[in-house]
Formats: sequence, C-alpha cells, structure tokens
Amino acid sequence: MTLRISGLAKHYGDVPVFENVTLSVEPGEFVAIVGESGVGKSTLLNCMAGLDSWDAGTVTHEGADIGALDGEACALWRRRHVGFVFQAFHVLPHLDVAQNVSLPLMLLGGRRDEGRVAHMLDAVGLPGMGARLPQTLSGGQLQRVAIARALVHRPALLLADEPTGNLDPGTASKVMELLIGQTREHGASLVLVTHSESAAARADRLLHLTAEGIRA
Ligand SMILES: Nc1ncnc2c1ncn2[C@@H]1O[C@H](COP(=O)(O)OP(=O)(O)O)[C@@H](O)[C@H]1O
Ligand SMILES: [Mg+2]
Repeated sequence: MTLRISGLAKHYGDVPVFENVTLSVEPGEFVAIVGESGVGKSTLLNCMAGLDSWDAGTVTHEGADIGALDGEACALWRRRHVGFVFQAFHVLPHLDVAQNVSLPLMLLGGRRDEGRVAHMLDAVGLPGMGARLPQTLSGGQLQRVAIARALVHRPALLLADEPTGNLDPGTASKVMELLIGQTREHGASLVLVTHSESAAARADRLLHLTAEGIRA
C-alpha cells in the first residue's frame, strides 16, 4: 500500500511550517526524515496519519484520499492500517502494559490475544512486564511499550517519531530490528523521524525536511 504526499503545505496562523512536501513511500520501504528542531517533522508525521490538517496538497494511502475522510472514517482507516510511535509515547496511565499493547487489537474488534501481546513484549525487551502500570516504568521502557503497541496489529504504515530517543544503544538497535522487520517481512511502509545517525544509516532513503520542502 503506497503512501503518497503531494505538495503538502502547513501553517499555524500566519506562521508557515513547511510547503512543497512531496514524497512517496512504497510497501517494504524504509524512509528516514531528518531536520532541525521545530522544522515540522512531528507535524508532517501527524499529517501522514490524518491526525492533523494541512492547508494545501494531498495525502493518499493506496489511492484513498486521507484529507477527504471524515473524522470517523479517518479513525477507522488509522486503526486498520497505521501504527504510530508518538514522540511523547501516549501510553494510557490507567491501563497496564499488556492492556496498552493490546489496545489496537481491541479497537479492531478482536479478542485479546495474550500470545501476540506477550510476543511483542518479549520482542521489545519487556518480557513478563504485562501487569505493570505505566507509572512504574522508566522513559525507555514506556517508549518500548509504545513501540509494541504500534506493531501489534501488523500495520501497513508505520510512522515513528524519534522512537529510539530514550533508549540505550543496545535497546535502540533491537527496536530498529523490529521496525525494519515489520517493513521487510510484512511489506509495511516505514517513515522514521530520527536524530540518530545509526538509525538513519539503515534507511533506504534519507530525506531532509526544511521550510522549503523535502529533499534527499
Ligand atoms: N498546535 C500548534 N500551534 C502553533 N504552533 C505549533 C503547534 N504545533 C507545533 N507548532 C509549531 O510548528 C513548528 C513545527 O513543530 P514540530 O512539528 O513539533 O517540529 P519538529 O518535530 O520538527 O521539532 C514549530 O515551530 C512549532 O512551534
Ligand atoms: Mg518533533
């Protein structure tokens, strides 16, 4: 399922964030985006997920015009097809780790798949921590809960905002393996915003976001 961004422009009030952002990401492809702080990387990822609005241009996913979907249709599309690793994690504080990770499966109407959730917790290096509450976890552990949750339903589009920002190098490379595995083995499209040179070095394409657009 191909993601196409064409001529995207965004401003907040009178303040432009970016314009002329055009890129496509194919199934199985890993694109890394770098750029200075405040240039709009998180905003661009939010637009790709239909979580933010834009002022010009289009976002399509396998031909579906994401900007034309109403709120409910967009939420449904996101549930089915998108895994998002937020920079601020957005782990729900009143749910335990296993409940947080199984949320995408539950929202899709599935039964709670304990085996799949346990597998994801193992894969991010949090084995046996399903019953813990988020407040008892470190920043790096919360980040890994967010990554397990983004991957649990095997989404076609993986959007990750600095997913290794709080992790030690060993855990970071493990997490990169997981994201890349979903891309290579299941044909997901991965868009990763990162400051990590080692993470960016593994991408098929490295793109630089500036106020004027996005370029190699
Ligand atoms: N809700 C908002 N209202 C006004 N300005 C915002 C809002 N969200 C982000 N911005 C501004 O938009 C710009 C891009 O922000 P962001 O996408 O978070 O950048 P990055 O992720 O590249 O650091 C920044 O200048 C930021 O201050
Ligand atoms: Mg950001």
